[in-house]
Amino acid sequence: MIPLSLAQIARVTGGQLCHGDPDAVVSGEVVIDSRRAGPGGLFAAVAGERSDGHDFAAAAVAAGAAAVLATRPVTVPSVLVADVPAALAALARSVVDALPAVRIAGITGSSGKTSTKDLAAQLVERLGPTIAPAGSYNNEFGHPLTVLRADAATRYLVLELSARGIGHIAYLCRVAPPRYGVVLNVGHAHAGEFGGLDQVARAKGELAEALPADGVAILNADDPRVLAMAERTEARVVTFSSAPGSDAPVRAVDIRLDDLGRPSFTLLTPEGSAPVTLRLHGAHNVPNALAAAALARELGMDLDGIADGLGAAVARSRWRMEVHQRPDGVTVINDAYNANPESVRAAIDALAHLAQGGRAFAILGHMAELGGTSRASHEDIGEYAARIGDSGLAGLIAVGEEAAPLLDGARRVRSWTGEALAAPDGAAALELLANRLKPSDVVLVKASRAAHLEGVAAALEGEAGQ
Ligand SMILES: Nc1ncnc2c1ncn2[C@@H]1O[C@H](COP(=O)(O)OP(=O)(O)OP(=O)(O)O)[C@@H](O)[C@H]1O
Ligand SMILES: [Mg+2]
Repeated sequence: MIPLSLAQIARVTGGQLCHGDPDAVVSGEVVIDSRRAGPGGLFAAVAGERSDGHDFAAAAVAAGAAAVLATRPVTVPSVLVADVPAALAALARSVVDALPAVRIAGITGSSGKTSTKDLAAQLVERLGPTIAPAGSYNNEFGHPLTVLRADAATRYLVLELSARGIGHIAYLCRVAPPRYGVVLNVGHAHAGEFGGLDQVARAKGELAEALPADGVAILNADDPRVLAMAERTEARVVTFSSAPGSDAPVRAVDIRLDDLGRPSFTLLTPEGSAPVTLRLHGAHNVPNALAAAALARELGMDLDGIADGLGAAVARSRWRMEVHQRPDGVTVINDAYNANPESVRAAIDALAHLAQGGRAFAILGHMAELGGTSRASHEDIGEYAARIGDSGLAGLIAVGEEAAPLLDGARRVRSWTGEALAAPDGAAALELLANRLKPSDVVLVKASRAAHLEGVAAALEGEAGQ
């Protein structure tokens, strides 16, 4: 971060300096996890559900933090503010304002923000020093903390913007006003909280609205709700598409998947065409790659650089379509990071592709935050799983609270001959699977974050099948 004195931090945040030297300088990272506090950093104390950051203020300073951002008095150098996220936002905005040469891109959508952000960052890094969040640092805490990592050397910020309600993305766009905005899709993630897809579209479109007239809105032409955001922006619109017959300026044609579900395609841009093979798994990563390509192109990267960069890009964030081949011939797809109807369908498609020569199993947990449509959505996913390939899944193991609707949906498919199995928890799911798996079987593990099925996937990956 750019060095700021405690006096400057107090002024920017409207806070009150306590126990500190006004000239002491914060030059290290701003963190909200005291265990990550380091020399010269700033520890922002937040009261969470299980613990209160203020209790760790002294530990953070002992670990080298120059000061603490706090909402109640602590015994170490601190800036007392009324609201920590607002203070972080004000600080982040002051850093952005002090670095006018930095080009800021925001990426939003219901599914694929992190995957796309990781792809885009790996392209943009080739153009110059780039700051992008680790994992899904995309909300009122993670977003300003990411922005605060920028300094005089930074040229690009590639940011992930999330929303759980109307106004959230507009807020994040005020913290770090993007000139480039990417909208991937409008889906059912958090649709329950929003109250339907039109509301989700309203919220995601706030990114398009926030862009300036000399900015660029990069929109998915294959999603009508995203394409409609062209009407809501002053910025120039550039679309991307992976649909056959599209005339979007950035598109993929001749899409093929290899045995492990890794897509190859021909990337078409106004400058020409180039072959691309991704290291990521799943056809759903094609639109993500196109979005990243369109952004890099707007930032000045040439077609060869984009194609080369996409082919070299790896999965940076864990538990998203990790494909693990066990020595015993079983393949595990660990997509346990999160789940919503669109991403579960995408994962089941990938499962079906990988299992062409063997049997497909899925351990599926619940999809959270779907509101009133939850039961029907789980039934639909069960039905979808029972219809894949020639004969549907060999086994659907439904874990936890929505197991019944998942299995009911699968049983709706009369022709389905697979097994419908309910498991109260991950351990029980593993037990059910253990004596069923044979070489060349493929297992998908997927659920919402709250279900924590990554442990199940790790256990499966670890079973070397001796
Ligand atoms: N374009 C896409 N369409 C559907 N599913 C996708 C797409 N891109 C990624 N996914 C799947 O969605 C899940 C989440 O991916 P990712 O973490 O990239 O999304 P996100 O939008 O950042 O999610 P979050 O809201 O949790 O931050 C993964 O299972 C991934 O395989
Ligand atoms: Mg994310």
